[in-house]
Amino acid sequence: MFGREKVKILDGPTPIEYLPRISEELGVNFYIKRDDLTPLAAGGNKLRKLEYAVKEALDEGATMLLTVGGVQTNHGRLTAAAAAKFGLRCAIVTAGTYPGEISANLLLDRILGADVIIENGGIGMDFDEIAKKYIEKYEAEGEKVYYITVGGSDVTGALGYIECAEELTAQAKELGIEDGRVITTSGSLGTYTGLYCGLRAMDSPLSLTGIAIMPYDDSTKRRAEELISGACERFGFDVPSSWDDLNIELDYTQGSYNNPVKEVRDAILLMARKEAILLDPCYTGKAFAGIIKMIEEGKIEKGEDIIFIHTGGMPGLYTKHHREAFEEELKDGIYIVEQ
Ligand SMILES: Cc1ncc(COP(=O)(O)O)c(C=O)c1O
Repeated sequence: MFGREKVKILDGPTPIEYLPRISEELGVNFYIKRDDLTPLAAGGNKLRKLEYAVKEALDEGATMLLTVGGVQTNHGRLTAAAAAKFGLRCAIVTAGTYPGEISANLLLDRILGADVIIENGGIGMDFDEIAKKYIEKYEAEGEKVYYITVGGSDVTGALGYIECAEELTAQAKELGIEDGRVITTSGSLGTYTGLYCGLRAMDSPLSLTGIAIMPYDDSTKRRAEELISGACERFGFDVPSSWDDLNIELDYTQGSYNNPVKEVRDAILLMARKEAILLDPCYTGKAFAGIIKMIEEGKIEKGEDIIFIHTGGMPGLYTKHHREAFEEELKDGIYIVEQ
């Protein structure tokens, strides 16, 4: 793809499924692309990026992957999985609040053998800065560290979704979707910008909408522009890279990152009870709640063809604060019969 090699983690294209009961409920033609069904450790979008990052790491002779993120980072879990699969050590450096229990992604990280460092109380710390300290520490111990920035969202990682844009365009054509709208949740922007570059570069008939899951400031917008212009420079294509050319909705963030929100839980229940597909409370559930709102507001028209990318994240349901909120609302359907 664009002259780049990768290791193989995915098993070919991920399926696109039509969801009849959600389509009927929302009045649109709702398709879902199952990137949550990618092979390793509960799957997710980061594996597409990691195919390219791991190849680069192995080529450079790295012995260890080190990445950064929030305490419950899905990207950290999948980096740990890819490291295990390719015989590398892994460390996940996080900043945030230790939840007081080792559950959800934290538990999976350790099962997969990664070290997890929690800079407790370090909300808002600069991830690339904290990483430096730990890269030095592991290199002093004799490791050769390959560093992956937050969310795997760098130019190398973007390749995963540039490639996915081709896959999507071919699948949509096969399904007879002529000019559908691809919708993805957007966090650290690698997924959105990769898809944007790929769809624009190949002149795909599909349009693209991102739904931000946390507030973006000017520096985030600049980051999006840099990712696109960096990809253009490195892979030799030419697509507009100004924020104004992008279509990322900023109205459905629910105020902050990974917060428990009733509307999001309701959206998760709707998808689970209509289609038996599990979304997550941080990314895909929030984006789906945004889609429902956009349909109500007329931003998405009735009858539109939508392809929603399920980017994974299901282990997030077991995160302490989300689990407790669900428990409170769902406990009335648990019947404890004393024997
Ligand atoms: C499950 C899930 N979906 C979506 C995203 C957002 O992808 P990106 O960071 O590339 O914008 C992430 C990022 O961590 C994620 O874990």
